[in-house]
Amino acid sequence: MSFNTFGHMFRVTTFGESHGPAIGCVVDGCPPRIPLTENDIQPFLDKRRPGQSRHTTQRQEPDSVRILSGVFTDEATGKQVTTGAPIALIIQNEDARSKDYSDIKDKYRPAHADYTYDVKYGIRDYRGGGRQSARETATRVAAGAIARKIVPGMNVRGALVQMGKRTIDRTRWDWAEVDKNPFFCPDGKTAVELADYLDGVRKSGSSVGAVIEIVADGVPAGLGAPIYGKLDGDLAAAMMGINAVKGVEIGAGFGAAALSGEENADDMRMGNDGKPRFLSNNAGGILGGISTGQSVVVRFAVKPTSSILTPRRTVDRYGNETEIVTKGRHDPCVGIRAVPIGEAMVACVIADHYLRQRAQMGAGPSWPFERLVPPI
Ligand SMILES: Cc1cc2nc3c(=O)[nH]c(=O)nc-3n(C[C@H](O)[C@H](O)[C@H](O)COP(=O)(O)O)c2cc1C
Repeated sequence: MSFNTFGHMFRVTTFGESHGPAIGCVVDGCPPRIPLTENDIQPFLDKRRPGQSRHTTQRQEPDSVRILSGVFTDEATGKQVTTGAPIALIIQNEDARSKDYSDIKDKYRPAHADYTYDVKYGIRDYRGGGRQSARETATRVAAGAIARKIVPGMNVRGALVQMGKRTIDRTRWDWAEVDKNPFFCPDGKTAVELADYLDGVRKSGSSVGAVIEIVADGVPAGLGAPIYGKLDGDLAAAMMGINAVKGVEIGAGFGAAALSGEENADDMRMGNDGKPRFLSNNAGGILGGISTGQSVVVRFAVKPTSSILTPRRTVDRYGNETEIVTKGRHDPCVGIRAVPIGEAMVACVIADHYLRQRAQMGAGPSWPFERLVPPI
């Protein structure tokens, strides 16, 4: 497998399997002299950590991160900072139970990647899904914590806005609610209903999908390059790179198809700060692949967990038709823990484009073109 790296200037390479000794990543291209300790990374891993409520997998992983390289004490401040060298991060796997998978080691779970890994490589690590497991995404969350420190003033937040057929009431959206319930749901009332709903799904041995929305505030205008380096293109690729993601939208997304040109256009006016402002944000903060300075809004659809207790028809790797029941510990709705993962991937992509912008343009976006358009 030769594609374990993403990003251009801010490059992340991840390694490790679900039931191997450890997972980790190497972050290359992080600028020097950024304060960085494990304490800057751990809170984000704690958000994604399994086993924190009855609504996620009961695998107990502390997900304690260790920084192995790329940091040193800054003499002037006494603080630990990045040196510009590759930053290696490692997380031990503590609670793998590989025997849970011995019954299905030769069978393909429908909707999982067992068949495609086997047909491609002729070998697959069946223990916990090996590399196809979302265990790997912990390392991306760790990389995302570093990415967040690169773009000054950027704030990336995520929320679950739909579970199965249940959608939130957007008029009740409150970011403070997101940290108060186990679903990262911004609508407290819906969150209460989701608890009963998901209990029912889990007890019936089934699973359910979700829609996640990520909002990045404080993204400067001008990030992204037209055509082959579009910010929305890279965001879509990053979201699709998250396990179980089957759809991505930017701004109004698929809803834009039903809007008229007048409804869809984000009209412009001059703001009190002397900069252009938009009267709406159907564009999701991106036009022509380049950030507008508005919030970048990304949504993605996560499919229901494929490992379910309900028997499914399948085949094994020797061509026999059979049935499969997946025991072991699984998330009944993988969309919940996809929230911090989506946030991290958005942060990594924007940090990468921020550094690309600096490399090409130096100081950054050039509004208000004083040198080009003299004031009237
Ligand atoms: C946070 C998270 C946790 C996941 N946990 C499970 C799980 O417990 N069981 C499972 O079958 N799939 C789980 N998945 C999904 C699989 O990793 C994914 O469906 C599989 O790799 C196949 O890839 P694809 O769905 O992207 O095609 C999880 C996904 C995410 C994002």
